[in-house]
Amino acid sequence: MPSPAVLLVALREVITRQRAPRRTEPDLIMADPEQVAAYTRAGREDGVMAPVYHFHAAQVCDVIRPGDTVLDLACGPATQLALVARLNPDVRFIGVDLSEEMLARAREHIAEQQLDNIEFRHGSIDALDFLEAKSVDAVMSTMALHHLPDEETLSSTFNEISRVLKPDGGLYLVDFGHLKSPRSIEYFANQYADRQPDLFTEDYRNSLWAAFPKEAFQRGHARHLAERSRLYSTFIFPFMVAIKSPSRRADEQALRETFARLREQLPPHHRRDLKDLKTFFGLGGLSSPLL
Ligand SMILES: C[S@@+](CC[C@H](N)C(=O)[O-])C[C@H]1O[C@@H](n2cnc3c(N)ncnc32)[C@H](O)[C@@H]1O
Repeated sequence: MPSPAVLLVALREVITRQRAPRRTEPDLIMADPEQVAAYTRAGREDGVMAPVYHFHAAQVCDVIRPGDTVLDLACGPATQLALVARLNPDVRFIGVDLSEEMLARAREHIAEQQLDNIEFRHGSIDALDFLEAKSVDAVMSTMALHHLPDEETLSSTFNEISRVLKPDGGLYLVDFGHLKSPRSIEYFANQYADRQPDLFTEDYRNSLWAAFPKEAFQRGHARHLAERSRLYSTFIFPFMVAIKSPSRRADEQALRETFARLREQLPPHHRRDLKDLKTFFGLGGLSSPLL
């Protein structure tokens, strides 16, 4: 059962009529070394994002297959990417990001993890010029699309995905959805403030303000990606929005056991957050056989 505070946010989002307007990220590209370090730490050490990474890893693994070439759009410090790459040693990954600072963190991370199935490209996700049409087997992107400046660029990004992805390719894109009420944004921004650096709380608040409304995802999806995927959002209010292709995985038993083991290693509060995410997305229709 989600906490009473989350249920209160849900109620407020349902009854609020007017949506607070979107505010673009102050730094569209994450280039400030301190901000990059705070984001990287929150993912890797204290790990406030661990349940989120676990959830998305299970979704991504569901749409990729051994032998694939998979593109991660706006990979950031590669925490999510490295987790997926470790679980799929027979898959080749290409991480794309526009921040050299982030790519430096990403390279350090995969070197520490001794992963040899990831390469990185510096570039913008709405202009994937280095890739031929229908040249990748799957595309993933986690918690990054809100960095795009406007809905037009979101749509160009979906258009690029549609261009580079093979016809039967896998797809998993996920990001925050724009909340209606500033109080709801403030609630989520501060939810883990005592467990994370202030800079990360600030960064998270900016991300929630910059999130695109679900309707923007719907328009871009309908135009470019509807033939190969479905759009989902968390139940009651679209705190998160995801676009996912049908499952492409056949050999899920071993991976399912791996995910169960990883889940057991999470501390109880992270397991609870993961359960909430699974419940809210599950009621919105999004599931993974690996969770
Ligand atoms: C919040 S981080 C998300 C990183 C990662 N996907 C994750 O799940 O942790 C957003 C990333 O998007 C990158 N970014 C912003 N605009 C971009 C663009 N147009 N093309 C490529 N990367 C971009 C930023 O540099 C940053 O690394």
